Amino acid sequence: MSWWSDFASRIEPDAPVGKQTWYRVGGRARHLYRPRDAAELAAFLGCAADASASVKVLGSGANVLIRDDGFDGEVIRLDDECFRSVRRTGTTLEVGAGVDLLPLAQRCCEWGLAGLEGLAGIPATVGGAVRMNAGGRFGEIGPVVRQIETLTLDGSQETLTHEQIGFGYRHSDLGDRIVLSARLELREDDPDRLKNLFDDCLDHKRRSQPVGENSAGCVFKNPNGESAGALIDRAGLKNACCGHARVSQRHANFIVAQERATASEILRLIDLIRERVLREFGIELETEIDIW
Ligand code: EPU
Repeated sequence: MSWWSDFASRIEPDAPVGKQTWYRVGGRARHLYRPRDAAELAAFLGCAADASASVKVLGSGANVLIRDDGFDGEVIRLDDECFRSVRRTGTTLEVGAGVDLLPLAQRCCEWGLAGLEGLAGIPATVGGAVRMNAGGRFGEIGPVVRQIETLTLDGSQETLTHEQIGFGYRHSDLGDRIVLSARLELREDDPDRLKNLFDDCLDHKRRSQPVGENSAGCVFKNPNGESAGALIDRAGLKNACCGHARVSQRHANFIVAQERATASEILRLIDLIRERVLREFGIELETEIDIW
């Protein structure tokens, strides 16, 4: 018997998780586990901890690069119905970690609830968005998050308040805790106004980013109020390639994985950009994407 035998019906061994990221590159995971509910996940985490297995959660895969030799551990996806519920009471929402941000933001606009309209076009699940305080020039998710339910890696449940989450720029203090659900506090506003703001964000994205190509959004965080995209652009790196990985012509902070691209090629391009921006501007870029 293996430590994971009790969960076998929910586990896919040797799972091609790289293909499930937005880059569509990278290797496999030892297991892909889709828990039935939070109690089962807690039990799984307890067993995984006892077996010293590495564990990661894959949200929508929009901000993750998995290396070509894969991830030698357990990858969890919270895509069962019980992690995708949305319950509304007035201006408060209780949302599961597996809920997709885009349709959620759209629904909030229709309900006349303000707070998420500036996140239009940011591909993420609620869990992933909270973990990295997803956002852009039109806002971030942190300010509307009141509290969250989490599991620690040993399977204990913990409720964290807004202050305890420690939101920063594309950052939270969650460490390796797994988000189960979030309570969002929104504000009443005019649905038409919100719809216009939502559409403006989407428009900005379509105009300035390589929508429809395989990428993981911005590769680097913006350093101290400067735009990483503008720096990479000024370094003359638009369209720079390593194999089949290319710096986007439309937005230089995006790396596009063309057909037959590999994770190693993307990683080489990341190193090349870092070196060049450091040499030209003395600025050390930090990756925003999560590299497994
Ligand atoms: N710029 C260039 N060349 C480029 C790209 C940008 O000169 O190749 C200039 C733009 O003209 C603009 C400035 O840089 O003056 C900033 O560009 P943009 O408005 O596109 O915003 P950003 O800071 O590059 C941020 C988020 C994006 C988010 C957008 C819009 C970060 C690292 N990026 O981009 O988030 O979509 O705002 O809200 O914070 C992501 O996090 O994955 C992401 C794409």
